[in-house]
Amino acid sequence: MAGKIILCRCEDMTLADLVHSVERGYADIEEVKRYTGFGTGPCQGKECLALVATELAKITGKPPATIPPFTARPPLAPTPLKLLARDPGAHRFADETDADE
Ligand code: FES
Repeated sequence: MAGKIILCRCEDMTLADLVHSVERGYADIEEVKRYTGFGTGPCQGKECLALVATELAKITGKPPATIPPFTARPPLAPTPLKLLARDPGAHRFADETDADE
């Protein structure tokens, strides 16, 4: 098959990257994630996990049902919802309060 086949659009991970990962001995989905970086983009694997798992099953000859999803990890610190709001004053940090009011 010719051309670059993208499996993870967020991290620009290709089918060739997956094949290379398996050839290097990283054939577990967690190992592939660490080796290629797939699933670590803004969508956190929502767009690519099933595709990578399917291709990994084909390459390794394992039944797809035996390939579990990788472990989802939360952000290091909780994100206050106000940071996602459109309020222009919501993007100040706690140590910036009341100084300019
Ligand atoms: S497409 Fe893979 S992390 Fe978004």
